[in-house]
Amino acid sequence: MDNEIDWSSLTFDYTPADFNLRCHFRDGEWGEIEVSTDNEISLPIAATCLHYGQEVFEGLKIFAGADGHVRAFRMADNARRIIDSAEAVIMAPVTVDLFCRMVEKIVRLNARLIPPYGTGASFYIRPVELGITPQIAVRHSTEFVFIMMASPVGPYFREGFCPTPICVTRRYDRVAPCGTGRWKVGGNYAYSLTAGKMAHELGYSSVLYLDPKEKKYLDECGPANFFAIKGDTYITPKSDSILPSITNMSFMQLARDMGLKVEQRRILLEELAEVDEAAACGTAAVAAPVSRVDDLDTGRSYVISPDNRPGPITTELYHRLRAIQYGEQPDTHGWTTVIDLD
Ligand code: PLP
Ligand code: COI
Repeated sequence: MDNEIDWSSLTFDYTPADFNLRCHFRDGEWGEIEVSTDNEISLPIAATCLHYGQEVFEGLKIFAGADGHVRAFRMADNARRIIDSAEAVIMAPVTVDLFCRMVEKIVRLNARLIPPYGTGASFYIRPVELGITPQIAVRHSTEFVFIMMASPVGPYFREGFCPTPICVTRRYDRVAPCGTGRWKVGGNYAYSLTAGKMAHELGYSSVLYLDPKEKKYLDECGPANFFAIKGDTYITPKSDSILPSITNMSFMQLARDMGLKVEQRRILLEELAEVDEAAACGTAAVAAPVSRVDDLDTGRSYVISPDNRPGPITTELYHRLRAIQYGEQPDTHGWTTVIDLD
C-alpha cells in the first residue's frame, strides 16, 4: 500500500493493512498469536467453514483522538459477542483477553495506517473465526483459526450524515425465527445480499426487516439496528432475531444521559406513522438517519423527515458518540481503551 493515503477520501472499501494476525485452536487450546503480511490463507478444501458456514465475525473501530491518544471503542463487548456467536455454532470461543491482546497488537503493528484525528476516518478491525477441520459429514470442526484483519476506513455512506429512504418487504427475511439472527454468523449475510441488491436497485439504502415469525414488528435495518425517536422517548426493537448492536446499546445510554426515556420493545410497523425521527445504527455507519420508509407490499409510505434533514436528537446522539470515540469529550461510561503505540 502507498505511504501517501488521502485519509479524507477514504470510503468503507477494503484497504488491506500491512499486518494481520492469526491464532490456531488445536488439541483443545489456543496457540500463540502469529503475525502475517500475507492477505491470503490456506485451508483444507473440506473445511467446515467452507461447506457448512461454520464462521463467525466481528467489527470494531479504532480512533486517533483529539488529545493524541489512540482508542479502541468497547472492544471487550465485541469480544464477548464473538464468544457468544462461536458457542452458538459449536466453535471454540476465544477469550476476552486473547481478543483484546490481538486488537492491541494489530493496532501497534499497523500504527501508520491509523487515520489522523480530524480526517473523519478510523481504523476498522475485522476479527473472524473459521472452522477448519475437514469434514464431509455435517459435523462441527474441532480445529479453528481466529484471524484479525484490518483496514483504514472512511464513512460507510458517501452521502455522509443525511437521511436516506429505506423499504419494507415481506418477500425476504434476514434470518429465521429460531435461527442465528442474534449472533454474528457469516451465513446471516448471504441471502441479505439479495434483499440489499433489490433495495439498492429501487433507490433505497437498505431493507427494514420485519420479524420473521409474524411479519408485524420491526427487526433490523440491513446489517444494522434500528431506532426511532417518539416525543421524549428513544425506541428500539426487542426481538430474538436481531444482533445486539454495541452502537445501539451506547445510544440507549447516551439517550438516558440526555434525559430521554428508553424503550426496548416490540414496535409495530404502523407505529412508524407516529415517530419523529428514525435511524439505522452500527459500528460502520454510527447512525444513518432515515427520511422515509416505503412498504413495498402495501404501498404505504411513512415519511419521517419531510425536510430531508437529520432530526435534532439523532444528530445529538451521533455527535455525542463520536466525541467520546475521538476523545473530544470525557468517556464517563468507560467505553474506550487507550492503546499505547510504543
Ligand atoms: N446488526 C447487524 C446484523 C450487524 O451486522 C451489525 C454490525 O455489526 C449491527 C447490527 C450493528 O452492531 P454494532 O453496533 O455492534 O456494530
Ligand atoms: C456495522 O458495523 O454497522 C455493520 O453493519 C457491519 C457490516 C459492515 C457487516
